[in-house]
Amino acid sequence: MIGVYPGSFDPLTLGHYDIISRASKICDKLYIGISENITKKHYFTLEERIFMAQESLKDIDNVIVESFKGLLINYVDEKQAKCIFRGLRAVSDFDYEFQLALANRSMNNECETIFMVPDQKYIFLSSTIVRDIASHNGDISTLVPNEIKKFIELKLNHK
Ligand code: PNS
Repeated sequence: MIGVYPGSFDPLTLGHYDIISRASKICDKLYIGISENITKKHYFTLEERIFMAQESLKDIDNVIVESFKGLLINYVDEKQAKCIFRGLRAVSDFDYEFQLALANRSMNNECETIFMVPDQKYIFLSSTIVRDIASHNGDISTLVPNEIKKFIELKLNHK
């Protein structure tokens, strides 16, 4: 089975990594689709977000990092994927995720959204939290993959 795990990954966190490592065990091939949405303001450039994901995911063989433009469901179709993976951390994620899953289904009834729960130590974690802690010189070593910690610190602290 081919799957897609889409997101902004601004930056990729250990919570994302945890979901990717679980989803990659279910799929033959898992595409990490990094959204190129120009109307959404990202802190890291698309190239930086791709670089960080590639560096972090080098050790997972069946994972392919790419960017996509436009509708997620068109990207899923292009990849001949059968499912979209999304992480659910708390009830607060649910409304948006439910809406997204149904919107995607309204455009392609054959594609399923699979919700996955990360390890409980990452339940509070988000890219926003990582950016906030790093920009105040806090320790992010338990929040992001080791490979990209320095890169994030350099960008956020302008060292
Ligand atoms: O990590 P994020 O920011 O929660 O990811 C959101 C993402 C990229 C999955 C979502 O915004 C998305 O799918 N964008 C592409 C446009 C689209 O297909 N929107 C949903 C149909 S209304």
